Amino acid sequence: MSGVIYIVNGPNLNLLGAREPDIYGHETLDDVHRLCEKTASASGLKVKFLQSNAEHQLIDWIQEARKKALAIVINPAAYSHTSVAILDALKSFDGIVAEVHLSNIHRRESFRHRSFVSTRADCVIAGCGISGYRFAIEFIAQQHKNYKNCAILPQLS
Ligand code: DQA
Repeated sequence: MSGVIYIVNGPNLNLLGAREPDIYGHETLDDVHRLCEKTASASGLKVKFLQSNAEHQLIDWIQEARKKALAIVINPAAYSHTSVAILDALKSFDGIVAEVHLSNIHRRESFRHRSFVSTRADCVIAGCGISGYRFAIEFIAQQHKNYKNCAILPQLS
C-alpha cells in the first residue's frame, strides 16, 4: 500500500474560516490542507485532500481509498451524526481511520454527541481545532511505523 492518506472533509467545511468562526475558528480549509501536507511530509507520507457537500461523493472517495490509501482522516461534519452509509463505507476500508472534529462535539447540542463514524474509527479527536488534523496524521504515521517494524520481525526470526 502506498504512503497516501486520504483526508476527507464533509459538508460546509468549504466555508471554514467564514462559518461560525466562534466555534470553528478563523483558519480556512486551505490552511488545513497546508497543515496536513506539512505534517504528512515530515513522516514521508502524502495526502489526497478532499471536500464535498454530497454524501455519495464522500462514499465514492472512501471506496476509492480501499485500493489507494493506507489511512483515512475524516471529518464527516454533520454526516457524522446521521450517516450509516458513510459508516458502512468506512467498514469496507481495512486501513487506519482517524475521525476529526474541530469543535468538541460532546460539549455542544445533544444531537452532536453521537457519531456513527466513531464506531469504526481507530482514533477520535474533537475540540482541538485544526490541530486535530495534525494529531490524526501523527497518530497514523506512528501506527504505520509500528506496523512496518512488526512486518520485519518474522523475517528476522
Ligand atoms: C464538525 C462538528 C459537526 O457537528 C458539525 O456538523 C460540523 C463540523 C466539527 O468539525 O466540529 O459541520 O464535524
